[in-house]
Amino acid sequence: MKIRFADSRPSGDFALVLPVSGKNRIALDSLGADRSAVDAALKSQRFEGDSGSAAELFIPADGGVRRLIVVGTGDGTGPSEAAEKLGGALVGRLLTSGEKQAVLDLSGLNYDADSAARVALAAALRAWRYDRYRTKLKDKQKPTLTELTIVGAPADSAGIWEKRWKPVYEGVGLTRELVTEPANIIYPETFVERVQAAVKGSGLEVEVLDGAAMKKLGMGALLGVAQGSVRDGRLLILRWNGGKDGDAPVAFVGKGVTFDTGGISIKPAAGMEAMKWDMGGAGAVAGAMLALAKRKAKANIVAICGLVENMPDGNAQRPGDVVTSMSGQTIEVINTDAEGRLVLADAITYVQRNYKPKIVVDLATLTGAIVISLGHEFGGLFTPDDDLANQLLDASKSSGDKLWRQPMAESFDKLIDSPIADMKNVGPREGGSITAAQFIHRFVENGTRWAHLDIAGMAWSDKPNSTYDKGATGYGVRLIDRFVEASVEAR
Ligand code: BES
Ligand code: MN
Ligand code: ZN
Repeated sequence: MKIRFADSRPSGDFALVLPVSGKNRIALDSLGADRSAVDAALKSQRFEGDSGSAAELFIPADGGVRRLIVVGTGDGTGPSEAAEKLGGALVGRLLTSGEKQAVLDLSGLNYDADSAARVALAAALRAWRYDRYRTKLKDKQKPTLTELTIVGAPADSAGIWEKRWKPVYEGVGLTRELVTEPANIIYPETFVERVQAAVKGSGLEVEVLDGAAMKKLGMGALLGVAQGSVRDGRLLILRWNGGKDGDAPVAFVGKGVTFDTGGISIKPAAGMEAMKWDMGGAGAVAGAMLALAKRKAKANIVAICGLVENMPDGNAQRPGDVVTSMSGQTIEVINTDAEGRLVLADAITYVQRNYKPKIVVDLATLTGAIVISLGHEFGGLFTPDDDLANQLLDASKSSGDKLWRQPMAESFDKLIDSPIADMKNVGPREGGSITAAQFIHRFVENGTRWAHLDIAGMAWSDKPNSTYDKGATGYGVRLIDRFVEASVEAR
């Protein structure tokens, strides 16, 4: 779907979208003679302009009829949040409606340029879909909306959309694509290829380690997970040097388990297909890097994707195996299904040894337990660093990728001591997301500020929202983008 900003409504056929903010119905003044009939129709639909609500009717136009969507923007929420709900709601209504063109007239709302641009962002995000394997879609199921024209927005809205938000849309698109693709298509090697193709020309530096290279570095924790699969593991490193020369980078590390069967500690059959998106952390990190590069962020950033497939073949690691991580610490693998932390351990050691980052933030679909705690409403944030926690919470609020802080403590750390090795890879069932975070914490080296985001409940959604349809959400891209803008670039 194409998005344009224009000075006036075009001629010809289009669906008209008018936003109404609570009792403020200025937008409807432009209806002229049709106004009273529209008011009556809204009343009979019990439309009150609440945020996220919409009413649909047809009005006379040029001897025919025109579809009119009146969208409520409420009056409680902040302008940017309301703006995104508006953009998302109108696309949700019109995408497969039969309409080809939509015109949104913002004249009635006093939106600043950024809010108007965020209407465009949400509209674009909500229109994203991946129909590559759906060869028999009925005409009625296919998207029809090809263009959205936004009028009545401040003059610099178009520039803010193009320069600030379109890159974010493109980053989210890459993440969603990687997350949506099944595991026979996207595995460590092809994940790398897909990202390389997407970032070509963006200015990102790309480096790739294969299994043999990781073996030389002593990455026994990550490789222990990979060894049960015929697919070789990969470490993908993306660098963006938009900051000052010599400024220590901020690192983002993503769990990229391209399929998680559980390994020998195999998962039950029901629902296992969901584990194709167990690379959602790596997908988010890759998409965020594309966004940061496209918007030319003034920051030095390094991203690491730890890519493996967790399978149970004759060479797979067994429960009870002891592996030696790149850090030198040994791990007793009690449960081969707690594989994400093993991958992250070596990826985090690698980034600290090679790039001396001042901050490391990892993103991982790490535990089912976080979905029990926070549902699909918040990602879990774990860090001993209060300042970093607050910066990430601020970024989560302004980006819409919601986070809720969880506790960490010495007493949880003790629960992963092992009688045979330095630690074991699981604690008791209770507090399962916290012991997972404590495990990762053991690989954070002195002085590095670190946070862990458990996004198991957020990477995929079974129901649509204002910025996504059901499926891959792209969670994490906007969070990283905003965190970098507010806490790295602003310094
Ligand atoms: N990838 C899963 C976590 C997960 C579960 C993500 C559900 C999304 C939805 C992870 O590798 C895993 O299997 N974790 C185990 C850990 C346990 C064995 C300690 C879990 O949460 O059950
Ligand atoms: Mn697992
Ligand atoms: Zn997993």
